[in-house]
Formats: sequence, structure tokens, C-alpha cells
Amino acid sequence: MIISLIAAVGNNRVIGTKGDLPWHLPDDMKFFAKTTRGHHVLMGRKNFESIPEKYRPLPGRPNIVVTRNNDFNAEQIILESSIEKGIEKAKEAGETELFIIGGGEIYNQTIDVADKLYITHVDASPEGETKFPEFDGSKWTKTELLNHPKDDVHNLSFSICVYDKI
Ligand SMILES: NC(=O)c1ccc[n+]([C@@H]2O[C@H](COP(=O)([O-])OP(=O)(O)OC[C@H]3O[C@@H](n4cnc5c(N)ncnc54)[C@H](OP(=O)(O)O)[C@@H]3O)[C@@H](O)[C@H]2O)c1
Repeated sequence: MIISLIAAVGNNRVIGTKGDLPWHLPDDMKFFAKTTRGHHVLMGRKNFESIPEKYRPLPGRPNIVVTRNNDFNAEQIILESSIEKGIEKAKEAGETELFIIGGGEIYNQTIDVADKLYITHVDASPEGETKFPEFDGSKWTKTELLNHPKDDVHNLSFSICVYDKI
């Protein structure tokens, strides 16, 4: 099973502000949905709760949520008490590519076991307390999938790249 991280990251590595995304980029959301659909996704409890209720669990893919809180409960998700257990759950189900979808705490703890990174580089440096971890570019081969200019519905330009672990 491949372990992939997927994230939208600012020039300053910021990915989140006040528990939310710092931008609204519908075409990147479409890329995220298309790429992860049909696969297990694993996320932290805070990221799960940041998704508007009507969109969660994310449809068409098993949602694994990790929390250390035994009292946390939500319907139609796979709850696990550790990231390792979540990864094991996807493996046992025969998953071929598990997507780690954040947030910051979860990316930090999984970047070292990732085989692949799908990074949307957003051309902005927003304020925000949550960052994507630094990673050593020499250990990955980078392929740019698309370059998206600003337009009427996207006030920021972005490029989507895939990094494969060498
Ligand atoms: N730009 C992007 O691509 C992107 C993607 C995803 C999220 N985000 C943003 O990131 C922010 C959320 O990230 P965050 O770092 O604050 O929180 P997070 O990583 O989503 O969740 C943290 C929570 O996960 C649980 N957790 C963490 N490590 C664990 C472990 N080893 N075992 C079991 N449970 C564990 C804990 O839950 P309990 O407290 O319940 O124990 C912890 O409080 C939001 O602003 C969101 O919008 C951005």
C-alpha cells in the first residue's frame, strides 16, 4: 500500500488559519476530490471537525479519523486511537493508496513514512498557525501536473505537483 500526503501549501508553508483553510480554490478542491475518491483517507480529529457538517464524512471514500479522546464519536467514520492503527486498518481492507489529508499535526507525524506527496503550491503567504512540514527536495522527484492562473473564481494562482520518494 502506498502512503500519500495531499495538501495545499502556501509559499510560507501555511496550510491553515483559525481551524480553517486560508483560501477558497474550487478547482483544487475538485482535484482533491477526484484524486482521493475511492480510496481510504486518514485525518486528524480537528481536520474532520473543520469540514462543514453537510460534507462530512467525505463521500465515496472510507474516512479514518484519529483522536486520543475515547469519548469522541461521529457516525459513518472509522475511528482510531493512533495513526499507526489507522494505517493498518486501510492495509487490512486491501487499500492500494492511502491518502493522509491533514491537518498539520498529522502531516508532521507522517511525512517520514510517505511514499508520495500531492502538493498544491498556492502563490500566497497567508497568516496562519498551521504549517506543512519542511521536506528535503533532494529526496523526491517532482512532477508538475498543472498550473492554474488566477481567474474570476480563484483569486490566487496555484500549481499542483506530485513528489515521488526516491
Ligand atoms: N491546506 C490543506 O491542505 C489542509 C488540509 C487539512 C487541514 N488543513 C487545516 O489544518 C488545520 C487543522 O490541523 P491541526 O494540526 O490543527 O489538527 P489536525 O492534525 O487536523 O488534528 C489534530 C488532532 O488529531 C488527533 N491526533 C493527532 N495526532 C494523533 C495521534 N498520533 N494519535 C491519535 N490522535 C492524534 C488529536 O485529536 P484529539 O484532540 O481529539 O485527541 C489532535 O488534536 C485546519 O486549519 C485545517 O483547515 C489544511
